[in-house]
Amino acid sequence: MKSVEKNIEKESRLIWNFFMSMIYLALVSVILAFGYVALGDDIQALLNQKTITAEDIRNYKPQSNEGGEEVDYNKVVDGIHVYTGLKADPNLQVIIGSCTSCHSAKLITQNKATRAGWKSMILWMQATQGLQDLGNREPIILDYLAKYYAPENMGRRKNIDIAAIEWFILDQKEENK
Ligand code: HEC
Repeated sequence: MKSVEKNIEKESRLIWNFFMSMIYLALVSVILAFGYVALGDDIQALLNQKTITAEDIRNYKPQSNEGGEEVDYNKVVDGIHVYTGLKADPNLQVIIGSCTSCHSAKLITQNKATRAGWKSMILWMQATQGLQDLGNREPIILDYLAKYYAPENMGRRKNIDIAAIEWFILDQKEENK
């Protein structure tokens, strides 16, 4: 009788153990499944990660703009550098490198000033907008700006020849008063 009881006890413990193992297995599966749902994409990304080499950077070309056509970074049409809208010049890259990192080149093309005016805009940006000292690039930049973005009427219009002007004499009659 004793041994029968023992056997039953043993069997029920085995069944219980088996049952518990199944529950553990199910729990672990659920946790893994949740984990995969939550992190699967990140794990995939980690596995597929491609390291960018210096070669990739050297071969990098801006692919295309919204119109889908190739962007030719160096294209110049009618003396205008198409990509930035700035006037083409042998020193253009200096201007692009120094002046287009914080704002678009439009701020330059929309402005006109004398060399002194440009200098004061640069000083203003240096004092208030975090523009770095431009070092030996400053005279190159100022030459460029003063050459292409000078006030419109500077040195273009001929001086008025006062003697050649026929002046209207306004006769002020009573009725005009
Ligand atoms: C460190 C960032 C930075 C750099 C680099 C920089 N700027 Fe600016 N610039 C600014 C900020 C900020 C403004 C103000 C923008 C605004 O008002 O929306 C500004 C404004 C301007 C304006 C408009 C000024 C006005 O009175 O309306 C011009 C022109 C300009 N920048 C030209 C240049 C030129 C030329 C260079 C290269 C020498 C240059 N910027 C480089 C930050 C910078």
